[in-house]
Amino acid sequence: MPYNIIATAEADHGHQARRAFCQTLASVPHLPKVILPTGSSPAPFYQSLRDHPSIPSFSYLQLDEYLGLDVRDKRLFSKWLDRDVLNPLNIQNRMIFNSAANPDDEVRRILAWYKQHGAADMAVIGIGLNGHIGFNEPGSSFDSRARVVTLTPETIAANQSYWNGGKVPTRAITLGIADLKEVEHTILLVRGAAKAEILYRALHGPVTPEVPASYLQQQRNLIIVADRPALAMMP
Ligand code: PGA
Repeated sequence: MPYNIIATAEADHGHQARRAFCQTLASVPHLPKVILPTGSSPAPFYQSLRDHPSIPSFSYLQLDEYLGLDVRDKRLFSKWLDRDVLNPLNIQNRMIFNSAANPDDEVRRILAWYKQHGAADMAVIGIGLNGHIGFNEPGSSFDSRARVVTLTPETIAANQSYWNGGKVPTRAITLGIADLKEVEHTILLVRGAAKAEILYRALHGPVTPEVPASYLQQQRNLIIVADRPALAMMP
């Protein structure tokens, strides 16, 4: 398998993720274009970045976003990233999705942006319990690009805790698997026993759109930073 696994203690995940991230940033000869995720997986990583904010700069590219929210809504993924990473690290270049725009126009804008600027240099990603990456739910084609998607009931349930009992949006924009495959460097962050089975299936099961993360088996320059509970089923 063409990947590196960094196995960490639970308490050391954020620090190890930060090390891998900074080493990768330093290997890119220009201002790196970096996709960053939301969710609980990257929380210690972002904490570690906030604790040591003097790192090489980069441009931030959004991975996914709910549709239909006001641009000031604090629950937007873009606002989450602002609070957790981009403002503390003073990252100025941000390619974010407009939740309130006409979705088809917004997708056209994103596709045009990628056509003009090219692929990201690095994607830092988490994996969903159902194997999704970003909002590429099971069944997403490996040729998929940025597009509007409908969230699965599992994903809506998984995100409910971030909504204080409010109704989780059912539609989103996500980069596609093809956008992620083009990236030169990928860092997958995985934490906790609940992810052990899907991590194993993604890396050792069939390569199939039914497990979107299984595209990673064919991905170059993949680093997996996983704590020991998440690695429990790995050989
Ligand atoms: P999590 O989400 O980090 O909150 O587990 C990962 C994902 O759904 O992509």
